[in-house]
Amino acid sequence: MNLLSKRNLFVDLIVQSRFGILGAKKNLSTKFGLIGAGMMGREHIRNLQAIKKAEIVAIADPDDGSLKSAKKLFSEDMPPYYLTDYRQLREFDLDAVIIATPNFTHIEVVKELASTPFHLLVEKPMCTNLRDCKEMIAIDKGRDPMIWIALEYRFMSTTSHFLSKIPEIGDLKMVFIREHRGPFLEKVNNWNRFNKYSGGTLVEKCCHFFDLMTLMVQATPVRVHASGGQNVNHLDEKYDGGVPDILDNAFVIVEFDNGVRGCLDLCMFAEGSRNEQELVATGQLGKIEAFIPEDLVKISFRDGNNSALKIPPNPRIKYMGLHHGASYMELLAFIKAVLNGSDPIVDCIQGLRSVAVGIAAQEAIASGKSTRIPVI
Ligand SMILES: NC(=O)c1ccc[n+]([C@@H]2O[C@H](COP(=O)([O-])OP(=O)(O)OC[C@H]3O[C@@H](n4cnc5c(N)ncnc54)[C@H](O)[C@@H]3O)[C@@H](O)[C@H]2O)c1
Repeated sequence: MNLLSKRNLFVDLIVQSRFGILGAKKNLSTKFGLIGAGMMGREHIRNLQAIKKAEIVAIADPDDGSLKSAKKLFSEDMPPYYLTDYRQLREFDLDAVIIATPNFTHIEVVKELASTPFHLLVEKPMCTNLRDCKEMIAIDKGRDPMIWIALEYRFMSTTSHFLSKIPEIGDLKMVFIREHRGPFLEKVNNWNRFNKYSGGTLVEKCCHFFDLMTLMVQATPVRVHASGGQNVNHLDEKYDGGVPDILDNAFVIVEFDNGVRGCLDLCMFAEGSRNEQELVATGQLGKIEAFIPEDLVKISFRDGNNSALKIPPNPRIKYMGLHHGASYMELLAFIKAVLNGSDPIVDCIQGLRSVAVGIAAQEAIASGKSTRIPVI
């Protein structure tokens, strides 16, 4: 294999021998390739480094700065391959590839890797529009290795405890999610400043919450009412003459086909909030609330019986990272599915559904009318 320049030949040989390509050593770990070494790609690196049975074989990113930052996470005697063109990964002996590139590129990368035997972990949002989501579903149906969409909030210890308690409050009637946080961070080439690259705030950020709502309600979202705007953030920024067009606050009401109503309250100029996320589910018997990062879950029944529990992190988590250990738990579950050849916990249909609610909400805001979610 001659993927690297002469300058890297020495590294090439070390890595080949380490990963058994030369037949020197049989490696029993799950072998990962990573595409996109930006903020989230490096988060995946740190998580995988904390998982004994995972190996990062190669990392691809065309941005020199991102590759340099990734290199700092590895010791010089055990480096992965560093590539500037992700298509070179096709030549590697890998079990799985993580796609952590900007949202609008996910479909192109999946298409390129469709014929490989690699299991794919595609970062959220699955895609920026429904056409691309449907194309990814068609690709998924036509291949054997899985595509898993990285909607990892459900793996947070507090969130997963909250979800497990919902059956205790009787017939569910209403759900509510609040995210009050700071503005979007800066990204490589500022792709997250424009709807056409990110899918828009309610897709890019809030696909996580529409996924959680659907998990809470266990039904299909069918209609959306919404109001929102860009009223505070990024208004004084300009990129190639263009001012960012992304929402920074919204209220979104989601109706489900079992009659349950959901509401999202998003504010991205509220970094002073005590909790970044609050989840509420209300049933015929009572109400359950979760607060993150306080990691508190409260249950209050209509008969006056109340309890509050501080939720400790899952003891299996070896790296808390940026998402309260959720990415670590997600990767453990992903590796288990790779090893067992089982179905993904978060499949393409769930990925599509979370995007479809976000797109419908953005359409509702733009048109001032409630919007039907297409049948999925
Ligand atoms: N699951 C989560 O909670 C979570 C959190 C943050 C970001 N994300 C998602 O992760 C993805 C990456 O976000 P980020 O915050 O790391 O952005 P980023 O801008 O920090 O990094 C993106 C990286 O992808 C690289 N890239 C662009 N095109 C590429 C290509 N064709 N091949 C290889 N690399 C390419 C860029 O050079 C950059 O280094 C996005 O889809 C984002 O929505 C998910």
